[in-house]
Amino acid sequence: MNLSTHLHITTWVIGLIFVFVTYAMYSSGSKSGAKIVHMILRLIYLLIIATGADLLFRLQLWNGEYISKAILGIISIGFMEMLLIRRKKQKSTTGMWIAFIIAIVVTIALGLRLQLGFKLF
Ligand code: HEM
Repeated sequence: MNLSTHLHITTWVIGLIFVFVTYAMYSSGSKSGAKIVHMILRLIYLLIIATGADLLFRLQLWNGEYISKAILGIISIGFMEMLLIRRKKQKSTTGMWIAFIIAIVVTIALGLRLQLGFKLF
């Protein structure tokens, strides 16, 4: 068990929960509540990136897989944000749901494949 990997997993799991809560709140029309939860989620994005970067710099494995993992993580966050903005603006979200789910599944799959953080420290 190591703190860096656990912090990273904890932040993105909490982030995912906040995506669903924010989405549901925009859908139910509670705009002011949704705005607050959405703002907290944006802080969580920063924590996901910070804990991911922490792992990246600790591991110092600058190969294609690790760089892809980081880029996919940032793309996943981008789709989370675009999904919520489209919901907020009452635009169609089908395409964004598909993009978000594909990005998150690939990111988690690659993260679980690498998993070196658990072995090294
Ligand atoms: C929503 C976004 C993200 C998700 C769902 C995600 C998911 C994961 C998962 C499942 C792991 C495997 C943990 C383990 O078992 O060791 C992981 C590890 C990692 N992630 Fe992320 N991540 C995200 C964002 C990021 C970002 C933005 C970065 C970089 C800036 C990043 C960099 C890393 C690195 C370097 C590892 C270590 C891999 C290893 O242990 O060998 N991740 N991530």
